[in-house]
Amino acid sequence: MPHCAIAAQTTGHAALHLITARTLSFIDDPGIVGEERSYEFHEKGAIVVDDDGSIAWSGSAVDLPAEHRDLPSTGYGDKIVMAGFVDAHLHFPQYRMIAAFGKDLLDWLNRYTFIEEQRYADAGFARQAAAKFLDELVRNGITSCLAFSTIHPVALDALFEEALQRGMALVSGKTMMDCNAPKGLSDTAETGYRESKELIAKWHGVGRLQYAITPRFAVTSSEAQLEATGVLKREHPDLILQTHLSENDAEIAAVANSFPWSKDYTDVYDHYGLLSEKAFFAHGIHLSERELARMSEAGASVVHCPTSNNFLGSGLFRYHHTREAGRPVSIGVGSDVGGGTNHSTLATLRDAYVVSQLVGSRITAFDAFYLATLGNSRLMHLDHEIGSLAPGRTADLVVLDPEATPIMAERHALSNSLHDELFALMIMGDDRAVAETYIAGKPVKSALAR
Ligand code: GUN
Ligand code: ZN
Repeated sequence: MPHCAIAAQTTGHAALHLITARTLSFIDDPGIVGEERSYEFHEKGAIVVDDDGSIAWSGSAVDLPAEHRDLPSTGYGDKIVMAGFVDAHLHFPQYRMIAAFGKDLLDWLNRYTFIEEQRYADAGFARQAAAKFLDELVRNGITSCLAFSTIHPVALDALFEEALQRGMALVSGKTMMDCNAPKGLSDTAETGYRESKELIAKWHGVGRLQYAITPRFAVTSSEAQLEATGVLKREHPDLILQTHLSENDAEIAAVANSFPWSKDYTDVYDHYGLLSEKAFFAHGIHLSERELARMSEAGASVVHCPTSNNFLGSGLFRYHHTREAGRPVSIGVGSDVGGGTNHSTLATLRDAYVVSQLVGSRITAFDAFYLATLGNSRLMHLDHEIGSLAPGRTADLVVLDPEATPIMAERHALSNSLHDELFALMIMGDDRAVAETYIAGKPVKSALAR
């Protein structure tokens, strides 16, 4: 990957150095290999960051090779260092319109979202927003994400320029929508296709950036646009594709009405060739057995967005049901800001746990932290680069403080296992629990203007 050269070019070298802390790194999915075999944890851990921003070595400090012992070091004591969080679904142009009072998804989209997103036609506005959006990710320990932009090429330019400057691994795309939306937020089948092609040529593979083909959802795309999206996907089979699926009852009814020939909502995307191992479908709350089997067969991923599902009253996602053996569907986790109510990954995991309780099948803290790190990275085919502390990965890290607030410190005193500690972190934590964020080996949260 060319990212190291770009990181060096744009953000300066990360000097060879040592980080000591309690370290946690996932190896595999705890739901598949069992908890014990899913992670590596060191009470006295060490990470050697190479001067190209990659992880040169990680493990228990007692095993640190002699040549690394005298490196300049940063010690985080009892704090936990793990791979930076990956948010697998959120909306850049909605970063500041969270907490908008809407009746349900379609009402909320029409009343607030489609108004706010039209502002991103202005390149200057989009540039300022991109800086603030990425600052907010950094503040929350999120080092990579799969994000929607707007229909405006200038908005994606702004986001990618800012991410490139920071050396971040971002995946995003120009949103395509050509019906059921205001004029200022609509493209056409032809312009959506052409502008996407131009942006792919301009941005995909630059630094650590990747382009994602981004039809908003079947409600706002005509048959002609979905057809053109299928062509785009066939022409660029390696690209990630992201959209929304089966989030809300009225949305599902609208899709059935627009595509009367379809078996169901999933069949609409399937018909145009949009299901693949690199396809991400946000929400997927109300999928039928047929749809789940088809998603499983295609190797497509559903992104669970619990704070958004709760906020918009969309429904309760059944994590274990969706993963059921026989037709397991890959699942990621995302904030879905601004439908989501918090940029914090810890808050997202908290709601994922609460929703799992409400449907009667508990996810563990290990499940949750796996999803937000290695799990999402794997789905995005980025686990060779991010998602764990394995040597060779880029040193995108989050430093978590289980004692970030007085009450968290009191709760922490009662913790009697790693699981207990992680669980309290995700139930009580937010951006205050993120003591530092590293991108390509450089501390970036502490460098933010307050
Ligand atoms: N479906 C289509 N667009 C959106 C969006 O912006 N947010 C959510 N939550 N669902 C959508
Ligand atoms: Zn969304």
